[in-house]
Amino acid sequence: MQYKAPTGTQDILPEDQPYWRYVIARMRHIVGTYGFQEMGVPIFEDTFLFARGVGEATDIVEKEMYTFEDRGGHSITLRPEFTAGVMRAYIEHGMRVRPSPVKLYSIGPTFRYERPQAGRYRQFWQLNVESIGEQDPATDLEVMSVAWHIYADLGFRELSFQLNSTGCPQCKPGYKQVLVAYYQDHLHVICDDCNRRLGTNPLRVLDCKQPQCQPVIAGAPHMTDHLCVECAGHFAALQSYLDDLDRPYTLNHRLVRGLDYYTKTVFEVWAEGIGAQNAVCGGGRYDGLIELLGGPPTPGVGFASGIERIILTLKQQGIEPPPLPAPRVFLAYRGEAAKRAAIRLLGLLREAGVGAVMGFGDRSLKAQLRQAGRQGMAYALVLGEDELAAGQVTVRDMTRGQQERVARDGIVAWLQNRLTAPRHTP
Ligand code: HAM
Repeated sequence: MQYKAPTGTQDILPEDQPYWRYVIARMRHIVGTYGFQEMGVPIFEDTFLFARGVGEATDIVEKEMYTFEDRGGHSITLRPEFTAGVMRAYIEHGMRVRPSPVKLYSIGPTFRYERPQAGRYRQFWQLNVESIGEQDPATDLEVMSVAWHIYADLGFRELSFQLNSTGCPQCKPGYKQVLVAYYQDHLHVICDDCNRRLGTNPLRVLDCKQPQCQPVIAGAPHMTDHLCVECAGHFAALQSYLDDLDRPYTLNHRLVRGLDYYTKTVFEVWAEGIGAQNAVCGGGRYDGLIELLGGPPTPGVGFASGIERIILTLKQQGIEPPPLPAPRVFLAYRGEAAKRAAIRLLGLLREAGVGAVMGFGDRSLKAQLRQAGRQGMAYALVLGEDELAAGQVTVRDMTRGQQERVARDGIVAWLQNRLTAPRHTP
């Protein structure tokens, strides 16, 4: 039997690591400049937290959670997202006494039992950003800006915000009634899922992808025409702030998002090459969530971005990350005495901070130099009987193909002088 990575998971091979390191480093740097602090939360939580926080009638809770009973008989779920866990931690650690808004970010793997396809996995990483404690639409703008900044910094082309407002407990129920009433004339055309959703989670009919539902969705009433005064004011203010910054956005009346906690603002970012099916990020405001989880009434707004999708977008747009530092010196040897000297020299080089490797297995000098070439080394050091007797090392410049002898005592300093910029191992 040949084992394979579980469906919907991926191994991250060494050649992909530069993408991961680069994306995460840039994200950390940028969110840090906006004043967000890193926060770690467990990979698993009580199932109840997600059922309540994300919503019983969502796809995530109904069909996508990795839930199991632990040995103590507790129902545990691998986090399908960060927000519920971060809010639990915010309440548990009394973080509301900190200066408001409390700005937190987290990075790590999340798990959803979805049908895998390009950009959609069962284990995927998220950068999750939350700003907790402020009603001001300028905080929505700040959270959207940090997302935008990350993608612009990475060099993404054709970025656009998709924007909508899903209202609040004052106006959302009225809109749901209007929507359900509109659908009554179309029940015979829409898909089975939408027929079911009308009873459980009516807003979700708006983001159905089934072809027969599209004309019905196109004629559906818009939430933004049914907002209460407060939600309409919040939405108008946010749009005027976005206009001030010249941020392009599209009002998308179909954008409802798949998590129940949203109130007022919801948004996604789409980018060239990845598009509508696979948003690079999604988020919004969740003013009732902390209270729902047992905390005091506290507003909040945030987003999460899938790191695999960002990397996919970088590749589709042909954007290369900088290479990772890699050893540039290869030690080749001929004979047992030279091997021992090479092992000693290898230790000295590494202690001095010069990345170096040697060929093991007593292969021919030719084979060792071929390996040095394939690994993209800048220099190969050759130690044989001659070199040992003379207290020297033969240094081969792998790009120019030239050789010279250097004193063994001086070789560390010689290499330190020449090796300045790191180079990537192919
Ligand atoms: P979400 O839209 O479910 O929102 O996920 C956010 C992002 O995670 C998506 O835009 C996408 O980039 C990535 N993502 C989601 N599912 C997958 C998947 N199966 N494979 C690969 N990437 C995926 C949330 O999770 C909310 N907690 C965001 C939030 C934070 N809202 C407020 N604060």
